[in-house]
Amino acid sequence: MKHRVFLTRRWPESIEAKLQERYDVSLNRDDRPLSPAEFKRALQQYDAVCPTVCDSLPAEVLNVPDKRCKILGNFGVGYNHIDIAAAKQQGLIVTNTPGVLTESTADIAMTLLLMSARRGAEGDRLVRAGLWKGWCPTHMMSSDVTGATLGLIGFGRIAQAMARKAHHGFGMKIMYVKPSPAQQEVVDELRAIRCDTVETLLPLCDFVSLHCPGGNETRHLMNDERLSLMKPSAHLINTARGDVVDSQALISALRDKRIAGAGLDVYEGEPNIDPGFLALDNVSLLPHLGSATIATRTAMGQKVLDNLAAYFAGKDLPDRVI
Ligand code: DGY
Repeated sequence: MKHRVFLTRRWPESIEAKLQERYDVSLNRDDRPLSPAEFKRALQQYDAVCPTVCDSLPAEVLNVPDKRCKILGNFGVGYNHIDIAAAKQQGLIVTNTPGVLTESTADIAMTLLLMSARRGAEGDRLVRAGLWKGWCPTHMMSSDVTGATLGLIGFGRIAQAMARKAHHGFGMKIMYVKPSPAQQEVVDELRAIRCDTVETLLPLCDFVSLHCPGGNETRHLMNDERLSLMKPSAHLINTARGDVVDSQALISALRDKRIAGAGLDVYEGEPNIDPGFLALDNVSLLPHLGSATIATRTAMGQKVLDNLAAYFAGKDLPDRVI
């Protein structure tokens, strides 16, 4: 008898096919987020359920007494959408997909940094609207990226990959905040300077990029008070999780030009976006594209597959969260 596996969303075809060779796989053919009742049913009916960041899994959804499921193979590195304490209490194993989306997510952070600095999205809108009147010495002037200072809040894999692109590619100076100092070889390679607190880093940077996990501990880390510590010429980049930034505070800071711009890939309550952002020209908005390359999404699926294979073979799991 094949193990029963449920994917809450459609995955790249090559990975779905590999899973189907090994397991009795059910796909969410509509490719839409599941309701809590549908997710609970999946926990009752399948040996493994594979959620994504779109599945909000609080304790009440995970609390299914007669469940068959033993493992949640999360398709993604972040797992703040899963109540990990509740999953543990329910005896569920949780795995994730670290390492394989580092470069693609750092690429999107750099894309947003460049778009925000050089007013890329605004320029595109202007051209499409037929409003461009031709080259002019003072038209759409913007900020230099080369040689500017980049501050990273969180200095894990993705932040370090971004720092490499920024430092080696654009000669940017790198500063970071992290509870403990980064490895000496990384510090030496990037000439990275550590700040003890977010408050000391913010006034020193031309660009600030967020790379901390989401969840209660970092909710609204970038609030009104901290946004006011940024330079008026600075830009905020968020490819981490939407709730790390207080949207209302950011909208006011951008509207009042207390900071120059922002580049966002993630949002509080996504896919709903605060209409306040849509009315602003100095914010670049992407639809959570961090890991959205064919190779990365395929590698993420392969990671889930490797974890499931290890679990069903009774081996150690390569990416066990709990
Ligand atoms: C993750 O892996 O956590 C991303 O946000 C989804 O690409």
